[in-house]
Amino acid sequence: MAESPVLELRDVEKAFGSVIALRSGTISVDAGSIHALVGENGAGKSTLVKIVAGLYQRDGGVFRLRGEDVDFTSTAQSKAAGVAVIYQEPTLFPDLSVTENIFMGRQPTTQFGRIDRKAMRHEVERLFTRLGVTIDPDRPAEGLSIADQQVIEIAKAVSLDASLLIMDEPTAALSGVEVERLFAIARSLRDEGRGLIFISHRFDEVFSLCDTVTVMRDGAYIATSSIAETSVDEIVHQMVGREVTELFPKLEAEKGGPLLEVEGLTSPGVFSDITFTVHAGEIVGLAGLVGAGRSEVARAVFGVDDYTAGSVRMGGSVVPKRNPNAAMRAGLALVPEDRRKQGLVVEAGVGENITLSIRNRLAKLGLVTTGIENRAAREWASRLEVKSNALDTVAATLSGGNQQKVVLAKWLATNPRVLLIDEPTRGIDVGTKSEVHRLLSQLAQQGMGILMISSELPEVLGMADRVLVMREGRITAEIDRAVATSENVMHAATHSSEAAA
Ligand SMILES: Nc1ncnc2c1ncn2[C@@H]1O[C@H](COP(=O)(O)OP(=O)(O)OP(=O)(O)O)[C@@H](O)[C@H]1O
Ligand SMILES: [Mg+2]
Repeated sequence: MAESPVLELRDVEKAFGSVIALRSGTISVDAGSIHALVGENGAGKSTLVKIVAGLYQRDGGVFRLRGEDVDFTSTAQSKAAGVAVIYQEPTLFPDLSVTENIFMGRQPTTQFGRIDRKAMRHEVERLFTRLGVTIDPDRPAEGLSIADQQVIEIAKAVSLDASLLIMDEPTAALSGVEVERLFAIARSLRDEGRGLIFISHRFDEVFSLCDTVTVMRDGAYIATSSIAETSVDEIVHQMVGREVTELFPKLEAEKGGPLLEVEGLTSPGVFSDITFTVHAGEIVGLAGLVGAGRSEVARAVFGVDDYTAGSVRMGGSVVPKRNPNAAMRAGLALVPEDRRKQGLVVEAGVGENITLSIRNRLAKLGLVTTGIENRAAREWASRLEVKSNALDTVAATLSGGNQQKVVLAKWLATNPRVLLIDEPTRGIDVGTKSEVHRLLSQLAQQGMGILMISSELPEVLGMADRVLVMREGRITAEIDRAVATSENVMHAATHSSEAAA
């Protein structure tokens, strides 16, 4: 008889009040296999994961681990049964050290019942060496980049010695090198005979890493195929249920006068001598590896972070530093990278989140009525296809991708003259991705200036009129759309200009 699959779910159901998150969750993961789980934002992928993790309990259906029926009422039970999960949003405790986070809830003790710090340190060093991680195990988790937090989540999962490892969009915040490192780890775990589930909206990753793929739509199982026997087109069709129009629908826009002028911006140790201009009607791409300082520049321009030298001007007038309100008044908006932490009030409703930024503006015009707010919220929510039953749906209960769309909607509703947007489509599914691209293109056509930070080269090359490349805190190249290629952008992102010359 064939070996039982590591995980088997059949027709698993889960509802939250009147919202049916999962109608028929079905997947069968074999030992020694990496199984992709794909579907649009809100399809039910994370809900399925959380049931396996013991965070949610299913309303119905079959749930088996290594052939045995199971029922988890806590995450501890799921962990004990050999399931490790890397969630879409990192869940580290900021005040605890890296080591303490890895051993959270299961610290080894000495024979006297004390926490065995030596053993913990030793184990973490072993893990980090195996995973090629260079993070200081004693530093607090607070202030770590998303990529590093993700790496620590992975180390935590690997240290559990799990037979089933689930990764819910682990690469959304990682750069090329870090993705390769993660994939190498995933492949070695597969070769040890473990089962892995990999959730991603990036098809190139699904095809290079996985051997099997299961597609979900609207909470229901659609199909399972062997990667060797399917194609991107087929998967997209199964996911969306219709043909998807062209990605990067770039529209011709007339380039107007300069709007945003940044000169000599410097923050020691973070970035230095950053000079660039964004014109009306222009999309400027800001490319580079994670950690090159791109987000930091955007945050400084918008006044969230400080800088020690240089200036930011909008329409010729100086924008005061460290003052996001003044930046907003000057016509700037920033859609941050870490939307959940920096952009979203998770306890508030979708509508309220979208209108938070425009409320001040409306108030100045003496126009605060919930009617107007709701109309604005509704308009943007529907333009971005936020999937929720009502505007008062609490943002925390939205799927990851839909939370992203709410933050996007919130800033677009402020109608800025210059939009700084950090990773515009991270975590957003294929169908909506082209909508976001179309929208950015349209906004540029209407005269908005856009600075778009993106780690996805096809997105940069497809959308930007001009590409600025950053490396280690400096702009190393400026490449026009006509001549930009993935090779020259990657080269500028990874080589010093001396080496290039
Ligand atoms: N705790 C909850 N309360 C109410 N509704 C929820 C809750 N969790 C999820 N949902 C709803 O269930 C549906 C499925 O969400 P889920 O997070 O599983 O989607 P997903 O496939 O992971 O999407 P994404 O690609 O955006 O991460 C969504 O409509 C979501 O709003
Ligand atoms: Mg999800």
